[in-house]
Amino acid sequence: MNEVNKPDFWEGRYQAQNTSWDLGRPTPVFKTIASKYPTGKLCIIGCGRGYDAVVFAENGFDVTAIDFSETAIKDVHQLAAKSDVHITGVCKDIFDLPIEFLNTFDYVIEQTCFCAIDPERRSEYETVVHSILKPHGQLIGLWFPLDKLINEGGPPWGTTEEEVKTLFSKRWIKNMEKFHEESIEPRKGREKLIIFEKI
Ligand SMILES: C[S@@+](CC[C@H](N)C(=O)[O-])C[C@H]1O[C@@H](n2cnc3c(N)ncnc32)[C@H](O)[C@@H]1O
Repeated sequence: MNEVNKPDFWEGRYQAQNTSWDLGRPTPVFKTIASKYPTGKLCIIGCGRGYDAVVFAENGFDVTAIDFSETAIKDVHQLAAKSDVHITGVCKDIFDLPIEFLNTFDYVIEQTCFCAIDPERRSEYETVVHSILKPHGQLIGLWFPLDKLINEGGPPWGTTEEEVKTLFSKRWIKNMEKFHEESIEPRKGREKLIIFEKI
């Protein structure tokens, strides 16, 4: 089994402070979305240290933040307490979620979780997200990195717009797509906001 499928790989990265993906602050694109979208039940998968989880909670969303690294979830709880918001932090493998969270969320947030998982599990990822969203729930994703080939290895493993749109074509509609002006500088043109709705 690829080691990225195991929590120990990611836990080790957090403990070694080897977390190059970590912005140390909320993602600007999600900050804007949190201030504009109707509130609802929202899940961040592979949430990391929880900066985005806090922003959505501050804007009135009922946030569940999921990660299988214990350190990440501990940090989410600490940040929530410091920010005086409630977040349900869940230390669990996203591939073990569906029964407990079937048809639960209005929104799922994707931010460098898709590229962190074993590419062989991408269709399973689609199944998980589809299962945990309510009908008409939305998957709001910053799909990244679009400039890396899959055979260059990972994590992060590369993807393409075509791959993402094909994966979310059969039982989804695409609500919007945009190279967002608020993408952080190092990811400008390398990530795209694409929002899919569960049919
Ligand atoms: C590249 S990091 C991104 C973290 C966060 N989204 C951010 O942007 O800061 C990927 C995260 O996904 C988590 N992760 C990877 N595979 C997972 C799985 N199968 N279940 C739960 N969490 C997972 C890792 O522990 C890690 O925190």
